[in-house]
Amino acid sequence: MLRGERIILRAVERDDLPLICAYNNDVEVEVAGGGDPPLPQSLARLQAEFDTNAGKGGRDEPWFAIEVDGKMIGQCALHNFQDVHRTCEVGIGIGDKSYWGKGYGREAVLLLLDWAFRYRNLNKVWLTTIGSNERAYRCYLACGFVEEGRQRQHMWGAGHYEDFIYMGILRSEWEQRNAPKNTEV
Ligand SMILES: CC(C)(COP(=O)(O)OP(=O)(O)OC[C@H]1O[C@@H](n2cnc3c(N)ncnc32)[C@H](O)[C@@H]1OP(=O)(O)O)[C@@H](O)C(=O)NCCC(=O)NCCS
Repeated sequence: MLRGERIILRAVERDDLPLICAYNNDVEVEVAGGGDPPLPQSLARLQAEFDTNAGKGGRDEPWFAIEVDGKMIGQCALHNFQDVHRTCEVGIGIGDKSYWGKGYGREAVLLLLDWAFRYRNLNKVWLTTIGSNERAYRCYLACGFVEEGRQRQHMWGAGHYEDFIYMGILRSEWEQRNAPKNTEV
């Protein structure tokens, strides 16, 4: 649906679920994402959740599979929309670790920002990350996010406390960066 230079952001299909399940069961990926301790997830549970949502009809939420050269390497989403404040939160996880650090995350986040500001008319997009996830932090900085706050030793990560970082980008800042245009597939 949304096309970048090397990636496509498209709907998550049922056929993607086995790979998503494998990514969700990779402790390194889960720990990088921060939040709750890594927990197992069965394919059956994932499929049941998918089927429940698909059964509602209509359109999907802005939850996208990240595809590179025909391979689904991860997912990204916008959520937590606040209509009055015109804000939302971004989340991303590249589950195939061989694709880390090659600029795909940046491309995906830039496409999400373009969607949020161009099509959804938001005023701000924000996210959180953990202090040790330098790859994520640098990726977000490169997309124009700035650090807005840091809760020190706020979370228990993989055997140590982690800072919890808030980052955000304003519409005005995004406009100054000359957002690239999306092309519909
Ligand atoms: C976080 C994530 C989306 C970033 O996407 P990506 O494609 O890997 O990142 P990019 O290649 O766009 O940018 C990575 C940046 O980190 C740097 N980097 C790469 N490997 C690094 C490492 N091992 N340690 C520190 N920095 C690293 C890169 O040089 C680049 O920064 P620069 O442009 O200043 O040089 C992706 O790695 C991912 O999904 N990881 C697993 C789950 C996760 O962390 N989710 C995010 C939770 S907030």
